[in-house]
Amino acid sequence: MIRRALLAASHSGGARRIVETAPFTRDVARRFIAGETAADAARVTGRLTGEGLLVTLDVLGEDVHDKGRAETNTVKYIELLDRLGEEGLGARAEASVKLTAVGQALDEDLALDNARRICDAAASAGTTVTLDMEEHETVDSTLRTVHELRRDHPTVGAVVQAYLRRAEEYCADLAYEGSRVRLCKGAYAAPEAIAFTEKDDVDKSFVRCMKVLMAGKGYPMLATHDPRLIDIAEALTLLHSRDADTFEYQMLYGVRPQEQRRLAASGAQVRVYVAYGHDWYEYFMRRLAEKPANLRLVVRSLVGA
Ligand code: FDA
Repeated sequence: MIRRALLAASHSGGARRIVETAPFTRDVARRFIAGETAADAARVTGRLTGEGLLVTLDVLGEDVHDKGRAETNTVKYIELLDRLGEEGLGARAEASVKLTAVGQALDEDLALDNARRICDAAASAGTTVTLDMEEHETVDSTLRTVHELRRDHPTVGAVVQAYLRRAEEYCADLAYEGSRVRLCKGAYAAPEAIAFTEKDDVDKSFVRCMKVLMAGKGYPMLATHDPRLIDIAEALTLLHSRDADTFEYQMLYGVRPQEQRRLAASGAQVRVYVAYGHDWYEYFMRRLAEKPANLRLVVRSLVGA
């Protein structure tokens, strides 16, 4: 119930104003975001990659409904990727892009054109892009866009949300040679008819999807902090004799950092999802919804304890 309320609040202008203007919530949000500027993102990327981790960078700002903001977000990504190229970080850092940040809600073709410009910039910087998966209404459009982009940029990553009832089918379609697929549980609210809503069912679906991806020919990117699922992933690695460079774990910046380092030290590839920018509200609310205990941090910051 708390999860649903927090996800509903992530779309509420009133809640946004309270959270954004409260004196210390920005400090709490900083636990999950690298900062507000591309320089902050590059600094954190340099630190993480120096510690043997990989990075994927998200320029915050989603669900835009005007062309100007879609263009601004596209340019921010291109500038970021140029910077990664100049600083020689392209081999260890890619970009994660939300299509709603670059115009999907206005026009699928506009989002495709903007995403293509970002993919071109990524290729010039020696890296690639993964298209994040958002609300369930956008899934078909996002998968169409992944397939279009892969014509010129075959390494573009797709995301499957295990909470979707069709998740296993999406994984089977995407588990082909060279196909990079991030598997995550799913961070949005979705109706019962479309998505599993009980944690147990989502976890079981994650395991079924992982089995399909790990048995397939693609490159699985297992995005979870859940220790039970990580244990199962390790067992599947052995079962399918997968070398460490044929898949990766992914985790969010600010969540289980010791586990990120433990896995990397064991020889696994671990990519950290690093978000940055001014527009942190929706991203932050999803992080609260994932672990309502995080709310305690907010309440403490509000009462100044
Ligand atoms: P679960 O939520 O069960 O958490 C397991 C444990 O991890 C918790 O008990 C806690 O210890 C820790 N934990 C998890 N989240 C935490 C948090 N916010 N704060 C503190 N501790 C936390 N979703 C989506 O819909 N589309 C997408 O494109 C992506 N992309 C993506 C990329 C990457 C790299 C990651 C790691 C995640 C995503 N997600 C996502 C989010 C994902 O769907 C999911 O909401 C979160 O990863 C939380 O799920 P877990 O698998 O970690 O399990």
